[in-house]
Amino acid sequence: MPPDLRGAMRNLATGVCIATTYVDHGDRRDHDAVTVNSVTSVSLDPPLVSLCLKLESRFLADLLTTKKWALSILDGSAAAAARLCSGDRASRVGALSSLPASPGRHTGALVLDAPSWLECELWDSFQLGDHTMVVGEVVAAAAGDPRVPLLYLRGRYRTLDDTDPPNGEE
Ligand SMILES: Cc1cc2nc3c(=O)[nH]c(=O)nc-3n(C[C@H](O)[C@H](O)[C@H](O)COP(=O)(O)O)c2cc1C
Repeated sequence: MPPDLRGAMRNLATGVCIATTYVDHGDRRDHDAVTVNSVTSVSLDPPLVSLCLKLESRFLADLLTTKKWALSILDGSAAAAARLCSGDRASRVGALSSLPASPGRHTGALVLDAPSWLECELWDSFQLGDHTMVVGEVVAAAAGDPRVPLLYLRGRYRTLDDTDPPNGEE
């Protein structure tokens, strides 16, 4: 029996991001956005983050073409946006036109109205099994007001109200 990796990982609570990239076709720029939870902070100096994407992902193909992307770390009110951006490409592109977003100053990739965002340029990529890990150099990042974060756990979106930690713990 193969190990039940998917089942075991259901109990790992993660944050949720929307990754954005684009491809230029002459004077037209086609943006795309996907919901991801495989984001990891890799290195502070230089500042690097990683993201794992399915080998056959169209979003991955665009990202590897443009070599630039943005990550918006979602707050608890963004579950609907996360659902839309985990669908097929047409619904993702439709969702993008309704989400408040503006092009990042450093990469041009769309940055959403979110508690934190990062703009990345491709540093390296590795094919690992059925996914590609892309490692990005963070060329810009910011955190706004703290908001209740969006989590993903056991196949469901959840929110964490961390405004009142027990016993004053951080
Ligand atoms: C909470 C959540 C997290 C996800 N994280 C990832 C991820 O890290 N990598 C990935 O390839 N797909 C991830 N997905 C699936 C993509 O959002 C979805 O399959 C996307 O539409 C794929 O785009 P594609 O058309 O480029 O393949 C996630 C979906 C959900 C609901």
